[in-house]
Amino acid sequence: MKLTINGQEYDVPDSPSRVLLWTLRDELGLIGTKFGCGVGICGSCTVNINGKAVRSCITPLNEVDGEIRTVEGLATKNEDGSVELHPVQQAFIDNQVPQCSWCMSGQMMTATAFLAENSNPSDDEIVEAMGNNYCRCGCYYRIKTAVSDAATIIAEQNKEAA
Ligand code: FES
Ligand code: FES
Repeated sequence: MKLTINGQEYDVPDSPSRVLLWTLRDELGLIGTKFGCGVGICGSCTVNINGKAVRSCITPLNEVDGEIRTVEGLATKNEDGSVELHPVQQAFIDNQVPQCSWCMSGQMMTATAFLAENSNPSDDEIVEAMGNNYCRCGCYYRIKTAVSDAATIIAEQNKEAA
């Protein structure tokens, strides 16, 4: 079957028992997406499909329908070879959010999908949107601040582009 991931098409073997996470990590080497609980609870395996946050550890491969974006596809590669970080990535770095980092790709993919739907969130809305992505290092306050800062960066970029 064919998968479109980060704008690139891949041909991967279909299997009714396979979930998206293992195809990403084991077959395609996209190891930015992490395995945590394996049962859809922790959020560390979150990717975006058609812009929505999806838990790849419980998504059957043969039910994937749409464009997948993983953390490897968040940044934009410019024609001159330079890389422009996604506002969410930039804000997570600026706020020094990660400790062990294991949950971070899932956090950022959840935040990206959330901000695409709500570009001017309140703190409460951020906490609610991010509340099902667990961080065993307890970085929740910095995650909230970073998501809020990312919203500000996106708003500034949109203003410049208008
Ligand atoms: S590994 Fe998928 S939700 Fe925990
Ligand atoms: S930074 Fe360690 S689990 Fe979140």
